[in-house]
Amino acid sequence: MVTRMDNDNWTFLRAFLKSPRVVGSVIPSSSFLERRIVTAAEPGNADVLVELGVGTGGTTRSLLKAMPPQARLLAIERTAEFVEMLQQITDPRLDLVHGCASSITAELTQRGYLKADAVVSGIPFSTLPKPLAADIVKAIYNALAPGGRFVAYQFTDRVADYMRPVMGAPEVEHELRNVPPVRVFTWRKEGAADTAAITAANSSAVGPH
Ligand SMILES: C[S@@+](CC[C@H](N)C(=O)[O-])C[C@H]1O[C@@H](n2cnc3c(N)ncnc32)[C@H](O)[C@@H]1O
Repeated sequence: MVTRMDNDNWTFLRAFLKSPRVVGSVIPSSSFLERRIVTAAEPGNADVLVELGVGTGGTTRSLLKAMPPQARLLAIERTAEFVEMLQQITDPRLDLVHGCASSITAELTQRGYLKADAVVSGIPFSTLPKPLAADIVKAIYNALAPGGRFVAYQFTDRVADYMRPVMGAPEVEHELRNVPPVRVFTWRKEGAADTAAITAANSSAVGPH
């Protein structure tokens, strides 16, 4: 019997062989890494979350499990094969976009969301062209609400080189139970959030459930 995990692993490997610099890894994240990412993103009180680089959706499913019923997850993925597969996730809180991470602001605005409480990213910053990486870093910063979190899981420090001038030094954790072992970088945007105003604006955009 072919399980979803077998299927995910094959799809991942095929996509990696086709575009190694875009996919950045030969297999999806481990469940240990997924748990660490979810803990760092603190989705429990979030209204709007953004995921960049969704892959076969393991991180997405874990985030959805930890999100409150009224929250929304805007997930942006560049690889068409993954997007096709992700359409099997029927959770109405998930808004899946086939596109580039640099379009976060446009995608949030189009849905009437003011800001994101957290942005989670698995996109491989070490292999992105520098101008694109710089655009994505700026877009992430602009998309975050004050007090919002940016969580990036990466095999190298390159994301921190890009992000440090914008958000300062990250907290860094290591997850060894992943192939290969990975670093989880977390930043929190400065400033106290006017959470009431942001929640009100985001909820009126999200509407009743
Ligand atoms: C290392 S994989 C992470 C996948 C999945 N979240 C996981 O944990 O298994 C990186 C993902 O980023 C996507 N990606 C790369 N560049 C991107 C971009 N500019 N915008 C959106 N997604 C991108 C790739 O297609 C791939 O799905």
